[in-house]
Amino acid sequence: MEVITTAAGWRSVLDEARRAGRRVGFVPTMGALHAGHASLVDAARADCDLVTTSVFVNPLQFGDVADLDAYPRTLEADAALLEAHGCDVLFAPDVLEMYPRHPAPSCTSVHVTGASEGFEGADRPGHFDGMATVVTLLFNLAGPCAAYFGEKDFQQLCVVRQMVLDLGQPVEVVGCPTMREPDGLAMSSRNVRLTPAGRSVAPVLHAALLAGAASAEAGADGPGMCAAMEATIRTEPSASLSYAAAVDPETLAPVAQLAPGEQVRLLIAASIDGVRLIDNLAATVRPVR
Ligand code: PAF
Repeated sequence: MEVITTAAGWRSVLDEARRAGRRVGFVPTMGALHAGHASLVDAARADCDLVTTSVFVNPLQFGDVADLDAYPRTLEADAALLEAHGCDVLFAPDVLEMYPRHPAPSCTSVHVTGASEGFEGADRPGHFDGMATVVTLLFNLAGPCAAYFGEKDFQQLCVVRQMVLDLGQPVEVVGCPTMREPDGLAMSSRNVRLTPAGRSVAPVLHAALLAGAASAEAGADGPGMCAAMEATIRTEPSASLSYAAAVDPETLAPVAQLAPGEQVRLLIAASIDGVRLIDNLAATVRPVR
């Protein structure tokens, strides 16, 4: 695997691959890689001729400096995992390579309305602007490619899809299923921050989503699905709910009454031991029999 730290070097390797007729698959990450990221690399490997991953902890998408400083940096282990999964090119720039004016703020920022506005957007002001800005910068450097994002960050995936559509970015966005631990907890770089007690409680988010999906299947409306999720979270007093929502899978607008057979996305966020976890699940409203 080739490791590249300069924007110009990365761009020229990917341009050359495309000139040779190779399809480029790109997995953007902030490092601290786990099996969830590996599954994105595997998906890109299966579809593309050249697979590239970026590892860049993007300061623009962190609300406070303490959170940014606490974010795990594990480049050596990340490189080993990527190599084992067949990544061809690792792009690992430093902050000045990406933002030459750093720590002065960039003059340009990408803001996506609609999908970015509730949920994580409401709880983490500025997060999606920072994410959309760095992803645009990475897409500009990478050039035409297929880009792989986990459904685990479902709102992020919707924001990226909207941005690519609105800005005509030459990128095919591929959403990949959430990877879970055997007890249902969605894999996340944040899970390592849980205490053993917190870790044992954390699968309650998935349990809540399953309860919401079961209520949809039983004919509940949107508020009914939310009530089922909230009731499950209440069974764990150390879990503090931020939101539980039943939304349209494309616009993320909350749903009320749905037609039988219609798809809904259930979103949930809760803090356990001060660690904020998010998860989501597709559900189908009771089909007509
Ligand atoms: O999902 C992430 O790890 C980040 O938000 C991303 C897409 C790499 C942008 O920094």
